Amino acid sequence: MPKFYQLSRAERIAELQRAGILGPDAADLLRNNAALEEETADHLTENQIAQYPLPLGVVHKLRVNGVQREVAIAGEEPSVVAAASNGARMAAIAGGVRASAPRTHLVDAEIAFTVQVPAAQRILTEHDADIRAVAERAHPSIVQRGGGLRTITYSEVGSACKVTLSIDVQEAMGANIVNTIAEAVSHLLSHYFQQEPLFAILTNYSAATTTAQIDLPFAAVATKQASGEHVAAKIAAASDFACQDVARASTNNKGIMNGISGAAIALGQDYRALEAGVYAYAAHTGRYMPLSHWTLTDTGLHGELSLPLALGTVGGAISALPLAQVSQELARIDNVRTAQEVLAALGLVQNLAALRALVGPGIQAGHMALQAGALAIAAGATGAEVDLVTRELQNTPKTLAAARMLLEQLRKHKEEQ
Ligand code: MEV
Repeated sequence: MPKFYQLSRAERIAELQRAGILGPDAADLLRNNAALEEETADHLTENQIAQYPLPLGVVHKLRVNGVQREVAIAGEEPSVVAAASNGARMAAIAGGVRASAPRTHLVDAEIAFTVQVPAAQRILTEHDADIRAVAERAHPSIVQRGGGLRTITYSEVGSACKVTLSIDVQEAMGANIVNTIAEAVSHLLSHYFQQEPLFAILTNYSAATTTAQIDLPFAAVATKQASGEHVAAKIAAASDFACQDVARASTNNKGIMNGISGAAIALGQDYRALEAGVYAYAAHTGRYMPLSHWTLTDTGLHGELSLPLALGTVGGAISALPLAQVSQELARIDNVRTAQEVLAALGLVQNLAALRALVGPGIQAGHMALQAGALAIAAGATGAEVDLVTRELQNTPKTLAAARMLLEQLRKHKEEQ
């Protein structure tokens, strides 16, 4: 029985349909691989000149909170999906990842003023009902859906000050909702504070984190060369190292975001906002830290990852991007909490696979084996040549020069036949 990664594209889609993960429409959409309607593309960007294709890979069978998920990742780097799939395989040995997202989906807005207002607290309390009424009028539909303005907080920022609105955005990522409310409330506050607001905008910072955890038995991380105990101890040591070394923490966190960013793109999310929030949170203690931590237990390795995940399951570009909806269907995502839990779990297993490779054989062997296809294409191979050159590259140093030489030899050989 071939493994999922050994199947052809059509066979993978058929397999996902057979398993009841993809419905017929989603399967057709993937099969036909259609570009966006011209009109849709025109509305999603100014000055449209083309569509930019990226492959969509799938992390097969990532178990999160007892449910098996297929997580689509849009990206140009084969080792990202390979590493996450490898991490998902190790996680499955431990029954999968446990993840927990915040119960309420709050996004904050800052309304800034240049001059501090000593009576601000009293003013805000006195006019609380009016502020809430303006917020509701600015975006009534979010209130009808059960969300809206929750808290109003005044604080000083150097010699300036701000009012922070905390807004429940329900299933949306929330940028438009929050900015609309913030701008409306800023006009009212300028009247109370007797000064122009400096600006009113959501913040991409959030300390409301989603946590993913796993407890792996030693055997799950063993490699051909080293025992599980040895590998686990090195992973824990590498994790401690990252806590002391910002240079390492940065790379550790980039690895975590490798899959999360790609999955966010596949899900039609504002991945720039997501990344801004994650990287700012990494410094929330005042020092840039790794987002994950791995420790040894009596029986294996405990891993934990906490990060804020600015996601939505409705609004934004999601309804305009058919593949975003297919990506939701694949991962069985039907609410923001699940989306956050799946992506946090993805980040944790991605990190696990990266660390296991780093403290073991290094990442280059696997990475370059997967990169060989891209080298073959860069050397000019087309059609069946791509596979042939890729295969030959496995036995040589994987460089562009070697790929060019192999292609030349292949073509010469063909001519001579
Ligand atoms: C490469 O894209 C990601 C890694 O560098 C992450 C890490 O070092 O933890 C392998």
